[in-house]
Amino acid sequence: MDKNNKSIAIYPGTFDPLTNGHISIVRRALDIFDTVVLAIAIDTPKTPLFSLEERVEMAKTVFENKPRVIVESFSGLLVDYVEKKGAKVILRGLRAISDFEYEFQMALMNRRLKRDVHTLFMMTDYKWLFTSSSIIKETVNAGGDVQGLVPEPVWLKLKERFNL
Ligand code: COA
Repeated sequence: MDKNNKSIAIYPGTFDPLTNGHISIVRRALDIFDTVVLAIAIDTPKTPLFSLEERVEMAKTVFENKPRVIVESFSGLLVDYVEKKGAKVILRGLRAISDFEYEFQMALMNRRLKRDVHTLFMMTDYKWLFTSSSIIKETVNAGGDVQGLVPEPVWLKLKERFNL
């Protein structure tokens, strides 16, 4: 809860790009939290295809009609950002057992860094079990159609980037 007693969940990620799987997690989280902050990481171990500005712009366009979703970028430690936002919850989506080890590691590291910040996992809807940002990019790069797996503004941007 923040100072105004509003519940906030911070949903961090690279979002390179945002997929319908991510959106499904945000939608469902809005049933539980007053505000969901989609926090796009500047410091990520990945080498993103889209610049930070592009990732933020795409996400802002997608959520422009959802006033309870805030899109921001953050740098440095996630737990410090969570604290700065007056939040206590990090939200992550879990798809399969393969996600578990990495997510468990991150959750434990974040808990070690700040004990009063909690990681909450939501199971991904079965419709998005097989998707990931990487497989989307790989498919489009090879000329495949991923409409229905990503929101329209992301699909347009992917087509532009891969000259489809
Ligand atoms: N539906 C579809 N795909 C999903 C999904 C869902 N519900 N949930 C996750 N994914 C996919 C993503 O598309 C992504 O795929 P990719 O690996 O092919 O890119 C992957 O699962 C997870 O990516 P994402 O959700 O974007 O998170 P991330 O693992 O890239 O984010 C940070 C990692 C940014 C949260 C982490 O590096 C961080 O906190 N950085 C800040 C620095 C810090 O504090 N570090 C210490 C933390 S331990």
